[in-house]
Amino acid sequence: MTSSTASPDQGARSPACPPYAILIMNGPNLAHLGKRQPEIYGRLQLDLIPAMVQQLLGGRMHEVELSFFQSNSEGRLIDRLEQAREEGVHGVAFNAGAYTHTSLAIADCIAWIGLPVVEVHISNVLARAEGIRRKSCMGASVIGVISGFGLMSYALAVQALLAHLCAET
Ligand code: DQA
Repeated sequence: MTSSTASPDQGARSPACPPYAILIMNGPNLAHLGKRQPEIYGRLQLDLIPAMVQQLLGGRMHEVELSFFQSNSEGRLIDRLEQAREEGVHGVAFNAGAYTHTSLAIADCIAWIGLPVVEVHISNVLARAEGIRRKSCMGASVIGVISGFGLMSYALAVQALLAHLCAET
């Protein structure tokens, strides 16, 4: 349910005024949250995110329009980011899963598309046992990172994007 007034391949965003089109993206192994290692990722499922955003934003909920995308494929995630640019999406909350730590290709995409992206993690990646999880390929190109708040991380990312977009105008 992304809305846009930007014409295709116009590139950058449409004039920034609410409601802001915010895309929530999820990478590999995140479609089955609730079932996947609940001791790490919790028992809540992705479809609860809109309600959590609503809870956090309250009366400001009308200032955002959320859309969602999940893929296990690196290429599809890059295609969706490029499409978001063409659509005039205003901001992206992106949990790239393990690609966060490995994908130069996704990092390269975020670096050129010119959209504010918030890196999202359900778990606190800095506290995880595997050292590779403390590395983020995309970290240098995102506006910030939210990690460790369970499913609420996505809602906090939307709130951060809203504040960022409002401050820009
Ligand atoms: C994750 C953390 C990553 O290290 C892991 O590969 C994931 C999920 C998180 O949300 O905590 O798939 O991004």
